[in-house]
Amino acid sequence: MDSLIETSHLAGLGPDTITISNVNLSLGTGAARVHILKDISLRVGQGETIGLIGPSGSGKSTLLMVMAGLERPDKGEVVVNGTAFNALDEDALARFRGRQVGIVFQSFHLIPTMTALENVAVPLELAGHAGAAERAARELESVGLGHRLHHYPTQLSGGEQQRVALARALAPDPAILVADEPTGNLDETTGRQIVDLLFTKHAERGMTLVLVTHDSGLAHRCDRVVRLRSGRIESESDAHEQADA
Ligand SMILES: Nc1ncnc2c1ncn2[C@@H]1O[C@H](COP(=O)(O)OP(=O)(O)O)[C@@H](O)[C@H]1O
Ligand SMILES: [Mg+2]
Repeated sequence: MDSLIETSHLAGLGPDTITISNVNLSLGTGAARVHILKDISLRVGQGETIGLIGPSGSGKSTLLMVMAGLERPDKGEVVVNGTAFNALDEDALARFRGRQVGIVFQSFHLIPTMTALENVAVPLELAGHAGAAERAARELESVGLGHRLHHYPTQLSGGEQQRVALARALAPDPAILVADEPTGNLDETTGRQIVDLLFTKHAERGMTLVLVTHDSGLAHRCDRVVRLRSGRIESESDAHEQADA
């Protein structure tokens, strides 16, 4: 209970959706082994938006993968929407991810042999959702791609591909959405459209959003900015206060 009291600064945002406690993670073997995340603790309130910034190599992507259950920490605990990842085996963690975690990558990660519709529908089918194709079509329409359902990724622009990836991430109605430099492969105008779409979806659905970005202006559109340096949290600040300062 003590730990709940510590979240009083998030009181207006309700319970935590993501609680990371004393997470340490090393990757690689032998001389190439790197201690990437060092004693990271972070709480993210339900519906909160977090901008995660920091120099290249500071551990942003790795921390996002830990939140998404794609990397397991060596030490520490991750709880998402009330579920402790440590208690889940790989299959259970994959099922949890399929229902509760949406992930958007810089390089889209669409399956090239599948149409836009299939890219969105297949994960829904795998997660056991009824009416996957109809739901996928609705989701693509909601990101402005109703006219591109049967196009393959190579037939789509970068911005359109990222919209498909966003539709895929949002289709299961996840509790959290993590996005790793989602505008990094896009020109400025297209990137801004994707970010606007991301925040529109957040306003509509209220999922918790963690956005990794190099762009501090973009990070400051979030409720809070968390800065990593060399695998540690260097600072956490209210984005709006910091913007005013
Ligand atoms: N699989 C891995 N094996 C060894 N080192 C890794 C691995 N993945 C990432 N790293 C190292 O961990 C550090 C943090 O990486 P990353 O989380 O990708 O940082 P960021 O996203 O902030 O640029 C980097 O120094 C990177 O080289
Ligand atoms: Mg990265």
